[in-house]
Formats: sequence, C-alpha cells, structure tokens
Amino acid sequence: MEKRTYKKWIVLVPFPEQGHLTTMMQLGQALHLKGFSITVALGESNQVISPQHFPDFHFVIIPESVPMSLKKFGPAEFLKNLNKTSEASFKECIAQLLLQHDNDIACIIYDDLMYFSQYAAEEFKIPSVRFSTVSATHQVCGCVLSKVNAEKFLVEIKDPDVRDKLVENLHPLKYKHLENLGMGPLEPFLEIFREIGSRKVSAMIINTASFLESSSLSWLQQELGIPVFPIGPLHITASVNSSILEEDMSCIEWLNKQKPRSVIYISFGSQAQMETKEVLEMAWGLYNSNQPFLWVIRPGSISGSEWLPEEVSKIVSEKGYIVKWAPQIKVLEHPAVGGYWCHSGWNSTLESIGVGVPMICRPFHGEQKLNAMYIESVWKIGVEIEGEVERGVVERAVTRLLVDEESASMRERALVLKEKVKAAVRSGGSSYNALDEFVNYLERK
Ligand code: UDX
Repeated sequence: MEKRTYKKWIVLVPFPEQGHLTTMMQLGQALHLKGFSITVALGESNQVISPQHFPDFHFVIIPESVPMSLKKFGPAEFLKNLNKTSEASFKECIAQLLLQHDNDIACIIYDDLMYFSQYAAEEFKIPSVRFSTVSATHQVCGCVLSKVNAEKFLVEIKDPDVRDKLVENLHPLKYKHLENLGMGPLEPFLEIFREIGSRKVSAMIINTASFLESSSLSWLQQELGIPVFPIGPLHITASVNSSILEEDMSCIEWLNKQKPRSVIYISFGSQAQMETKEVLEMAWGLYNSNQPFLWVIRPGSISGSEWLPEEVSKIVSEKGYIVKWAPQIKVLEHPAVGGYWCHSGWNSTLESIGVGVPMICRPFHGEQKLNAMYIESVWKIGVEIEGEVERGVVERAVTRLLVDEESASMRERALVLKEKVKAAVRSGGSSYNALDEFVNYLERK
C-alpha cells in the first residue's frame, strides 16, 4: 500500500482482549499505511499491549476505567459498568487530544463493546465509526435483538417451533441462532445490544470480506442506513504483533517433522474455559484418531486446575505436542497442518479460511455458535461437534476432517475460499476497494 501525505489523526478505542485488540491494531496499521496518524485509547487498568511494538502510534490512557479482571464476576454487568464509568473520562481524553492535535481528528473508531465513545464523538462533533471485530452476520443478529421485546422474546425462544423458524429475510438464520449471542444467559445482553444499536454512528467497518457474508452485509447496509465497509480479513492486509501471551515457537520445529496435512491443530482462542473431564475426553479421542496433534492449552483454561492432569500429559506425549500459546497464523499456514479444531472465534475462523484449512468447530460462547453454523452449513468447510465432547465423537470428527472421503471436498472448498480471500485483499479486490472507499469517505467528511 502506498503512503499518502494526508496526516489527520484517527482515535482508536479497542476492547482490551486478545481477539478484539489484535483486530483493532490491524485496522490502525491499515489506516496508518494510508497516511493517517493513529492514537490508541486504552483504559487505565487495561494496558495489555506493548506500545514499543507500535512505535508509530500514539497511546493515551482513559482514566478510571474498570479492570478486565472484574469480567469474571459477570460479563454483562462488567460491560455496562465499563461503559458507564468511562463516558466522562473519555470525553476529557478527547478534549485533550483535540488540543494536542490541533482539532484535526478525522474520526473516532470504537469497538462495538466500547459504546461510551459515541458520547464524546457527539459532544465534539467528530465522526464516529463502529468497528466490528466479529462477523457481519453477528451484527445482523445484534440489530434484530436490539429491537425485540425482551420479556416476550425470552419466552417465545423456548418454543421449538419458534426456534426453528427462519428470521424474516435473513436465510439461513433461525431464531435459535439468536439465543447464544451473549457471554452466558441472553437476558442481560439484550440491554447491551439495545445500547449499541441506539448509538447514531456515521459508519461501520467490519472485519469481513463481502463474498463471505454478502446477504448479511446488504441487509445491514439497508437496515442501518449508513455506509458499511467490509475491509477484511485484516490479518492479511495489516499484520501486527499484538500477542498478549508469549508465542512458543518450538511447535514449528515439531511441525517440521510431521507429514504434510497430517496434523490437527487445536486451539480455543483467548477466553474459552474447559472442564477437566472434557480435556480428558479430547485427549483420548485425539489419541484414538491416530493423527498427530498440536494442542494449545492456555494456563488457567482448565477449570479448577492449574495445569494439565497427569493422565492427559501421558496420553499426549505419545502422539501430540502441547504449547501454552502458539504463533497461530504460522501454524495454520504450515504444510503439515491438515485441519484446525477451533472454538470458531471470528479471528481464528478468518485465519483458517485465509490459508484454506478446514475446521472442526466446538463453539463456547458469544457468536461462536453462529460462526460454526456458517463453517459447517454455509461455506461447508468443516464439521461441528454438537452435544457432549466425548472421545468417540472426537475421534469421528478428526477422521471426517483428515481421513474420510468427505475431507477432500471440505479441503477443496476451503482452498476455493482461500483464493477468494486473496482476490478480495489484492489491488482492485472488494476489501481493498472498501478500505479506499473508507479513506475517501473520511476525506469528504
Ligand atoms: C473472542 C470471540 O470468540 C471472537 O469471535 C471475537 O471476535 C473476539 O472475542 P477469542 O476467544 O480471542 O475471541 O478468539 P479469536 O477471535 O479467534 O481470537 C484469538 C486470536 O488469538 C487469534 O487472532 C489467534 O491467532 C490468536 N491466538 C490464539 C494465538 O496467536 N495463539 C494461540 O495459541 C491461540
């Protein structure tokens, strides 16, 4: 991408968790390459990235924000609290930045979850842009949920006939897909969807490519009545180093010793928690599948256990390799990797699609179930494990993905998507053009 001399400031407000933060920093990098100066605003107690990895960016602190550690006591309450307490301090922060940057702020781009940012944008008449680090389809669901009558909806959604009904004009979405979109019970999140939906933003950017979710994007554009820019996958156009945990590179040496497309890579992102029983069933299923496996187990990700139970370590040591955190993109593009058993987090989904690797999906929370539905039923590049994760189910899923006849067609479709992703991000492609259109849009504002 060529640099411009245009040097207005853009203020980014990321949500300080790995999946959200990485994508926002990638967006910052993409816009910086287009000539913008970037300021990143982070909560006082949430300094999770190293500014030295971003020497060209300016960092500011939003005082009095709520520490992420409180999220474990209730994610919905945490989000509401975070947004309430940050509103005034963020306004002060923007007032200071306007002074420092000579009133030259082109826009504030905020993660959907940091909706307090909108008030400062309105007060200082700065264009505000919502950034979706998740899919366009999730935005569609959020929009639908922001308008339901909560009491009525929560009763109706229990009815099996309602659950299986298609949401009007939104094929293949069914009402049951709207149910799991919170981190836990839906009810407290309905208010958050309403809060997000009620903000009058100028535009929306989504980390997706138009060919992946064309109907959701058209629906959104029409429903929101603002420009929607699908500019992803950003990890390809603007890769950055924003890993919160240290990547263990030894797994690449291990992969170098494996046969092409023989390895199943397992990683459930940065938030998921598993029970010991499930971990044990996974280990036995993987062992019985007879395929080598590379497994990321984050410290603290097994409930009630500091690290791996002894039995799992023994099973794994024969056929697998475990790391606490992997260089995921390098792993996925390694020729030894034949499949990815994932939690269907949106970044992980895009990263796997970007290299044509088919997936086993074991969604945990939020929009992961929705992503898994797209992977299995819309793009047809994976299989979803539904119900209890039990060793026989795991063995069957790994065999379907790596060995059975159907594995070839899943891989073929995944490779077709990989090529489409490449076409979308290269010069003249839909995501490439959408980024240019966004820059032009800002220049006109
Ligand atoms: C969650 C949601 O699941 C996701 O859909 C939403 O967009 C953000 O919040 P998370 O659990 O972090 O995110 O999953 P995901 O979006 O897939 O992001 C995980 C990121 O961590 C990916 O970029 C992945 O490459 C990286 N990662 C994961 C590593 O670098 N190393 C690892 O070992 C595991």
